[in-house]
Amino acid sequence: MFYQVYPRSFADSDGDGVGDLGGVLDRLGYLELLGVDALWICPVMRSPMADGGYDVSDPRDIDPLFGDVALLEDLVAEAHDRRMRVTMDLVPNHTSDRHPWFVAALAAPPESPERARYIFRDGRGPGGDEPPNNWPSIFGGPAWTRVTGADGAPGQWYLHIFAAEQPDLNWDNPEVVADFEQTMRFWLNRGVDGFRIDVAHGMAKPPGLPDMARVETKMLVHDDSDPRFNNPAVHDIHRRLRKVLDEYPDAVSIGEVWVDDNTRFAEYVRPDELHLAFNFRLAETAFDAAEIRVAVDNSIDAVRSVGASPTWTLSNHDIEREVTRYGGTGVGLDRARAMILLELALPGAVFVYNGSELGLPNVDDLPDEVLQDPVWERSGHTDRGRDGCRVPMPWEGRRPPFGFTTAEKSWLPIPPQWSELTVETQLERMDSMLSLYRMAIELRGARPEFAGLGIDWYGSPADCLAFRRTGGLVCALNASAVPIPLPPGELLLASAPLEGGMLPVNAAAWLV
Ligand code: NOJ
Repeated sequence: MFYQVYPRSFADSDGDGVGDLGGVLDRLGYLELLGVDALWICPVMRSPMADGGYDVSDPRDIDPLFGDVALLEDLVAEAHDRRMRVTMDLVPNHTSDRHPWFVAALAAPPESPERARYIFRDGRGPGGDEPPNNWPSIFGGPAWTRVTGADGAPGQWYLHIFAAEQPDLNWDNPEVVADFEQTMRFWLNRGVDGFRIDVAHGMAKPPGLPDMARVETKMLVHDDSDPRFNNPAVHDIHRRLRKVLDEYPDAVSIGEVWVDDNTRFAEYVRPDELHLAFNFRLAETAFDAAEIRVAVDNSIDAVRSVGASPTWTLSNHDIEREVTRYGGTGVGLDRARAMILLELALPGAVFVYNGSELGLPNVDDLPDEVLQDPVWERSGHTDRGRDGCRVPMPWEGRRPPFGFTTAEKSWLPIPPQWSELTVETQLERMDSMLSLYRMAIELRGARPEFAGLGIDWYGSPADCLAFRRTGGLVCALNASAVPIPLPPGELLLASAPLEGGMLPVNAAAWLV
């Protein structure tokens, strides 16, 4: 099980209200107790933080907000002692606009080697006043920003698929490839076990940068015909990067790949490309048995042709928290409990986002003035962005900030009601979400019934599903409106107490 740490929201060790690597180090015992096999730590490299660290100004240093390189090395060593692996988040598609390369590009003339590391173009229309094409930024507004020339007059435009502070790199430039390889080696040489690769379906841009046929953009809504992503040349890039990883035994890569078509998706996890790719089908699926079944089949089918492992994820730092998606505290929590049992019953790699194990809901009423996601500004204050799923973890005590920080306030306020959701409270209660996660993860690691790569579906009542792992584990899920009889077998774990021997609504159970 991979555990995703969003460092600014996990634990603060230096009292500035923002989580950091010292906080992760301090809480490794917790992660061990939870049963984590590997960490994915969201970006901690030097960054002006225009997009929570996904705007990197020095990819081979740690931002002082989070610590320093020595601290990262300590964290990796201590995690290894506890038999946990550590993967870092790398951002190859773009840099920060404060990266020395981009600063140099702005100072250099058009057609210079400095500009050739990015994607600069002349504008269209009279005076080059219009962007070079019609691409929108994922965060709202156009994907192009015009720069001012040395003479003070309006000059060329540069491409940024995300915020204007995140200029896209030109991966046709060998210098860009070599620099990224250097970054990978830098961290691998310090003991890091691999990388989560941001926007792994980006990087390569289509020749001529043609207009988009349908200009519509929204985060997490993807269309395979979108020319900004999934261009065939991206696979050569992944093959290059894989060669570096292969110099380090056991190093692993996980790509963020938003591609719907299974054949195209599978291309990313061919034996000489990424090891794993996130499949977001479950995170996009409602609590509906038929839809869940389609998503599960789809995720398994997507990688079968290339022999890669499926991956499962219910949420991350970009996605509304699952408790909220499934209906909010109450019914949403019951369903999230059922879904983690479903997920942990499946073959492949499971990714848990920090706070999911506490059943945290989204916080949708954050005051405007604390919002930090660039989406809020770029959408002209029409989209509140992703801060609601990034609220810090409540650790202990009765009042915010619940041991997250010694500062009076955390960088995003934690709701006072989360006193019932703290780690401290949940560790003491057998019926808590955290206890369910701990029991399920332990059983998954220990029981032989979780062996094998296949699943077989069972017949099940309407709006329910049941499957059997090759090793013998049976998982049943009730998304109907009435309790259902359990399949035959001995009950191993259930997400809710049985009702007269029946599986209640919005619940799942494991049997052997
Ligand atoms: C995907 C990351 O998960 C997201 O948080 C970020 O904003 C974009 N990539 C841009 O780097």
